[in-house]
Amino acid sequence: MKNRETIEIEPLDERHLPAALNLSEQSHWNQNGQDWRRLFRSSPGGCFGAFLEGRLVGTVTTSVYGTQLAWIGMMLVDPDYRRRGIGTRLMQAALDQLQRLGIVAVKLEATPAGKPLYETLGFRAEGLVERWEGTVQRRVEIKGPAWEERFRPSLYGFDRLAFGADRSFLLASLIADSPLAPLVALDAKGRLDGFALARPGRQAFYIGPVAARSPATALALLDGMLGRLAGEKIYLDFNTTLGLDSEVLADRGLVKQRDLTQMALGPESLAGISPLLFGLAGPESG
Ligand SMILES: CC(C)(COP(=O)(O)OP(=O)(O)OC[C@H]1O[C@@H](n2cnc3c(N)ncnc32)[C@H](O)[C@@H]1OP(=O)(O)O)[C@@H](O)C(=O)NCCC(=O)NCCS
Repeated sequence: MKNRETIEIEPLDERHLPAALNLSEQSHWNQNGQDWRRLFRSSPGGCFGAFLEGRLVGTVTTSVYGTQLAWIGMMLVDPDYRRRGIGTRLMQAALDQLQRLGIVAVKLEATPAGKPLYETLGFRAEGLVERWEGTVQRRVEIKGPAWEERFRPSLYGFDRLAFGADRSFLLASLIADSPLAPLVALDAKGRLDGFALARPGRQAFYIGPVAARSPATALALLDGMLGRLAGEKIYLDFNTTLGLDSEVLADRGLVKQRDLTQMALGPESLAGISPLLFGLAGPESG
């Protein structure tokens, strides 16, 4: 019998990867095993599962950036067990854990299904992110410099400026897990002016994060990535607070798939919605 009382909320780790991946695949999410593994490794003790007699029926993850900020992701309940309080219990387990760590600001990207639940828990909307997708056929000549290891500290530093917290662990893992080297843009003095990463996903390559000093540089980086991924399906989560008309994505043959609401608990900050951020690292990680 599907009884709420038999549901246990317990820490989730790499041993649960096949079950967690199965759950996200069932919902046609793009995250693959590497994405799950990265989340488990980045936050030991910070991911939780809902178990019914040992079977995984719900998940939530947390990613802690620096000492102040955390991102909540992979909030997912098996369709057969929704509207029975499991999502709320998972979220509370995640928030309790973050409180124990002294984290004051918590953010996430909400789907329309998740938004009311987060509002009940006190989250407020602070930005709109658009998921765009497409298969771009044209090849664009990549004029930027080839990736060199010496750019890595500047890339981490630029992301810290653009995102508002240190995400070195995440970036190192995204770079290591991808067959595509990062794209960088340099200014006239050879300083890093922006960068773009991309990695394979279950259904599509995910382009992001993309961060740049100016929208023109962000678009040049996007074109560079699209050129490398010609013929592949891609996803991009576009930060609309940048103030750039999303027509620029339609012009490149991409199609809008859906809206995500960026939501926050705790003090206001530009983390995840600063004008330097063009594309997210992922809805699960900001
Ligand atoms: C969003 C999601 C995780 C919520 O999980 P859930 O287990 O259904 O969440 P809860 O049961 O705690 O709350 C959902 C609703 O059920 C209601 N509810 C809770 N217990 C209930 C019960 N016993 N009987 C009836 N309704 C109940 C809640 O009040 C809430 O109602 P509201 O949406 O009107 O506010 C789930 O719908 C899901 O996996 N959706 C698809 C993936 C997704 O979009 N995830 C969010 C990513 S940001």
